[in-house]
Amino acid sequence: MDILPPIFIVCTRSPSGAIGKKGGLPWKRPSKENLTWFRCLTDSSAVVMGASTWKSLPKKPLYGRINVVISSVPIEGADYVFPDLMKALLSLQTKAIYIIGGQALFEEAYRLGMVDGVYEIILKSEYEGCDRFMPPLPDDFDVHTKLWESESDERWFYSYTFKI
Ligand SMILES: NC(=O)c1ccc[n+]([C@@H]2O[C@H](COP(=O)([O-])OP(=O)(O)OC[C@H]3O[C@@H](n4cnc5c(N)ncnc54)[C@H](OP(=O)(O)O)[C@@H]3O)[C@@H](O)[C@H]2O)c1
Repeated sequence: MDILPPIFIVCTRSPSGAIGKKGGLPWKRPSKENLTWFRCLTDSSAVVMGASTWKSLPKKPLYGRINVVISSVPIEGADYVFPDLMKALLSLQTKAIYIIGGQALFEEAYRLGMVDGVYEIILKSEYEGCDRFMPPLPDDFDVHTKLWESESDERWFYSYTFKI
């Protein structure tokens, strides 16, 4: 039997959990430091996203990663398209799988109970008019969270939460 790669969620959120607004991000754009952190974390791995998140990416595919989109319709430019998240998670052979959004995909990932850890950039401000949010951690996710402050910018924390 094949062993599944580790499966992580990655997101940037406000303190209350807001992640999206009107099909895009609530904040203007991620900082250079945020982008570097995200790129280093997900480098040479699979990034799995919902069709709406794929549409929202300003530059795609994400360079140096296996771009996987969950959609019921064909998606041009993706490396793989799967009709559901479970099929994707069971099929991908890679060193790690990062589920990168949006809300619908995060909810499905928690429902499947296959998430090993959650990487987050947690901003210190709230944003108005948000319509997409991080779902709460599942009950069995009895967590240990490591939180650290950005060294160069006081606007955010980085955090990693995993099952003990
Ligand atoms: N802050 C962050 O870290 C972050 C990260 C990513 C996204 N976002 C934001 O989140 C928002 C997008 O999230 P979203 O929840 O609207 O959409 P999404 O999760 O990106 O994509 C939803 C789409 O994925 C497909 N899908 C496949 N399986 C599904 C399932 N089990 N349940 C629901 N949909 C499924 C459907 O596409 P088809 O109709 O094609 O089948 C559905 O319309 C945007 O505002 C984006 O900017 C924020």
